[in-house]
Amino acid sequence: MQIPEIFYTSSPEQTERIGAKLAGAMLEDSKLPRFIALYGDLGVGKTAFVRGFASVVAPGARVKSPTFALVNEYRVKGGKNPPAFHFDMYRINDEDELYSIGFYDYLDSGICLVEWSENIEYALPDERFSVTIEKCSVDEPDKRKITLVRQ
Ligand SMILES: Nc1ncnc2c1ncn2[C@@H]1O[C@H](COP(=O)(O)OP(=O)(O)OP(=O)(O)O)[C@@H](O)[C@H]1O
Ligand SMILES: [Mg+2]
Repeated sequence: MQIPEIFYTSSPEQTERIGAKLAGAMLEDSKLPRFIALYGDLGVGKTAFVRGFASVVAPGARVKSPTFALVNEYRVKGGKNPPAFHFDMYRINDEDELYSIGFYDYLDSGICLVEWSENIEYALPDERFSVTIEKCSVDEPDKRKITLVRQ
């Protein structure tokens, strides 16, 4: 997988596939960052991306928005892959809340994927991937532009 890269998708499944591709690359190369900051508007496809990612790291895990708990954990019992921690920071108010969910402890414990990273920019690790998902035009409601960069 080339990084940086721009992808275009026309269905949730295609967006999942990009997430799966990044997961494969991260499992193959342990020197890559272990943190993925996700950016993009409500309903643009961030959770779809995470679903594809988790399908590789923790096959069978049920991925949904961690809206109430703020974090979901995906892992296969007895598996050799690191766990994936899926955060949704849409409702986060301040750093106290980050501490109370133990955000900083997760950083060394597995791979972190964070929806609404724009809300915790101050807390993001220096070494990370950023994934920005955008709608393209009103004429093509299912089309997405996905920009993957490494910080
Ligand atoms: N190309 C596409 N990629 C991803 N999702 C798509 C695409 N085309 C249409 N969709 C639809 O867009 C929606 C994406 O929902 P998803 O929950 O992944 O968004 P989200 O960015 O996580 O939203 P939120 O900010 O509320 O967490 C789904 O209803 C999905 O079917
Ligand atoms: Mg979501």
